[in-house]
Amino acid sequence: MTIAEFEKKILSWYRKNRRDLPWRNTKDPYKILVSEVMLQQTQVSRVLTKYPEFLQAFPTLKALAKAPQRKLLKVWSGLGYWRRALFLQRACAIILKQHKGIFPKDPKLLERLPGIGRYTARALSCFAFDTTGAFLDTNIRRVYIHFFFPKRKNVSDKQILQVAQKAPYPVWYGRTKQGISPREWHYALFDYGALVLKDKKINRQSKHYAKQKKFAGSFRSFRTKIMRFLLEQPDQKAALRKLETMLKKSGSPYSSKKLLSSLQKDGLIKKKGNSYSL
Ligand code: ADE
Repeated sequence: MTIAEFEKKILSWYRKNRRDLPWRNTKDPYKILVSEVMLQQTQVSRVLTKYPEFLQAFPTLKALAKAPQRKLLKVWSGLGYWRRALFLQRACAIILKQHKGIFPKDPKLLERLPGIGRYTARALSCFAFDTTGAFLDTNIRRVYIHFFFPKRKNVSDKQILQVAQKAPYPVWYGRTKQGISPREWHYALFDYGALVLKDKKINRQSKHYAKQKKFAGSFRSFRTKIMRFLLEQPDQKAALRKLETMLKKSGSPYSSKKLLSSLQKDGLIKKKGNSYSL
């Protein structure tokens, strides 16, 4: 399949099937960053319910940068991977202080911020500032592997990007403002990967494939139990003994000390004497 045929196929499908997601109707880099951080490891359906609540609680970069950590974690609850919330807040605090509240446009600068990796930096730069560089996430990778690397194993992102960077629509747009914008082009790839190719085991052909571990019974799941338990306490504080009892009752096979010290190390909880608090 040629690149031109590929684009035609994706775009004619996209015209009829595009998803209207709330973070696609804004160009505010703060709102886009919030959505991308949430979407890093959480399904679209869950993000859809949390996103408006989060933006209502923290409508601006400044509001989030200055929010009390407890309030932030309370609103984040339900999204999992709690550290992301702290990174997001730190990134906003740095933008506020070091960049006078103005988002850098260059993905290389964005990538220096906490919690913003290769993908998020480029996605944010594209969606907020219309930059034209290609980037990959799970869904986009799946689309390129399906069309350009069928039956191949161990396909690297470098190989995929060589194809992705040839996609002329976003490039034309960059030069002439005609054709589809880079942002719409990437939405089309997300949607095709997520809706058409979702059940196929295509990403196993990627060199960078990492199987998602089961949540139930995992170390991570008991970290979440502790976070939720503390959030439910009147002063978000509990004695070690109380936490140990709760963990035992919920069937944790992990050492309570290990669970608590991992949360403490991440800056999610604090230890004071014999008790822990948010
Ligand atoms: N739209 C914008 N970013 C997205 C993402 N990461 N996943 C799905 N749709 C999106």
